[in-house]
Amino acid sequence: MLKVAIACALLFVAVSATPYRDCGSTAALTAVRVPGCNALPCIVYRGTNVTVEYDFTAVDPSNTLTTDVKGVISGATLPWPGQFPPACGDVKVGDCPVAVAEPITMATVLVLSPAFPSVNAKAIWTLRNDNDGPIVCFEVTVTLL
Ligand SMILES: *[C@@H]1O[C@H](CO)[C@@H](O)[C@H](O)[C@H]1NC(C)=O
Repeated sequence: MLKVAIACALLFVAVSATPYRDCGSTAALTAVRVPGCNALPCIVYRGTNVTVEYDFTAVDPSNTLTTDVKGVISGATLPWPGQFPPACGDVKVGDCPVAVAEPITMATVLVLSPAFPSVNAKAIWTLRNDNDGPIVCFEVTVTLL
């Protein structure tokens, strides 16, 4: 019985979600998962890679998906350093082209360079469609350690 309770607790931690602010998703965004982050700000470590996952249901079709991440540090909005590969390669559940009503889970690697400063920042994460429109937009505060 205790073993079951512990297993359930571990499972809950593993799948529990990260709080976020929606900043204009056109799709139905249902969950965001930053590993180990169940409360904001998310603590992330420079020199590591973090796989950010999120789930949404598309309301418009799109052939392409583009990840666009910005960081807000001391009021200044900057592109997140580094290149994101075409996001169709990050589709974990579902596929490209994205169809109307298709449930999608994304898993995108965020590279945290050791060269980044140790700061508090807000990450604005956008997934764009063929027309550059935001399919998904969410904001998460992070502390880079
Ligand atoms: C993070 O990902 C980048 C790009 O895929 C890779 O070059 C780098 O070695 C990775 N770093 C770590 C710490 O896994």
